[in-house]
Amino acid sequence: MVRSKIVFFLEQSFQSYPTIPNPWKGYPILRYFRGTIPTYIRINTLRVKPKTLLNLMGKRGITAKPVSAELPFVAEIEHGDNVGYLPEHLAGYFYIQDLASVLAVLALAPSPSDKVLDGCAAPGGKTTLISQLMKNSGTVVANEIDKKRIVSLSSNVSRMGSTNVIITNEDLTQLPSPSWKECFDKILIDAPCTGDGLLPIRREKLLLLSAKKVAEHSNRQKQLLKTAIEMLKPGGVLVYSTCSFTIEQNEAVVKWFLENNTNVELLPVDIPFESFEGFVISDDDLSHRISSNVARLFPFPHRTIGFFISKFQKK
Ligand SMILES: C[S@@+](CC[C@H](N)C(=O)[O-])C[C@H]1O[C@@H](n2cnc3c(N)ncnc32)[C@H](O)[C@@H]1O
Repeated sequence: MVRSKIVFFLEQSFQSYPTIPNPWKGYPILRYFRGTIPTYIRINTLRVKPKTLLNLMGKRGITAKPVSAELPFVAEIEHGDNVGYLPEHLAGYFYIQDLASVLAVLALAPSPSDKVLDGCAAPGGKTTLISQLMKNSGTVVANEIDKKRIVSLSSNVSRMGSTNVIITNEDLTQLPSPSWKECFDKILIDAPCTGDGLLPIRREKLLLLSAKKVAEHSNRQKQLLKTAIEMLKPGGVLVYSTCSFTIEQNEAVVKWFLENNTNVELLPVDIPFESFEGFVISDDDLSHRISSNVARLFPFPHRTIGFFISKFQKK
């Protein structure tokens, strides 16, 4: 029921893009929303080795297997529920995190010497993974506008043992003050969005899906990117991601960003997992380039929440 509502909403929107191919219009689109999405955990290698954690969980009757040889620290729960109540979870040995969310951070590829900004950070799934990949070196500024969500952000940062993180409580669109200008090597904008990519597992998100909400988010996402690029050092890398299926919050935002910022170059999203290209939203060179450089993930065949990842470099 919920799935057919998302599909109906998207199908209506896709109809207005003549360049989108037929499998995404009408009944065939349904197949991309079928199938179950497993619970994934991201193992916190700052605290434990993947094998050790999987053995500990096995002793509690929970079986989980790594997603692939390239992603040994991401595992899919095969058997067992409520892993959030395990002492290993409370001790920060793992974070319950969809594989798609992990892939966005891998696209950013933070390294231990970087100064990284996670612009929209709560509750901290990506912040703490950035910190993990940086081996707790360098600096991560985790910014979040919502005071209430700062609580979950700081509790996750401390649970996961991320000691290289500074938390700030700012409206990113109101920055940068002079001290934040051209300050960061890498920036992640995991943007506020309608969250419809989560609809297959969280029905309440349906309330957020309307043309009006999509347009509001799209405007805010553009503002966030506009500020973020000012804070990035020349040569620095920016990743923009959403958990929405809609074009207006994804390819269309990327197109606006590239058309309005001549100092930004689109980079291919290089991730160690199969994904789809983006949609071609009009028949011009830029739209084709965007399509072949961004990544989209769907419940089928990827077995993840709906997700969009794009990557840029400041000239
Ligand atoms: C998709 S969620 C981020 C999820 C997070 N990256 C993670 O992986 O756990 C988007 C977040 O952006 C925050 N946000 C919205 N507008 C913002 C703004 N103008 N400045 C900073 N944060 C903002 C929201 O409150 C929300 O917590």
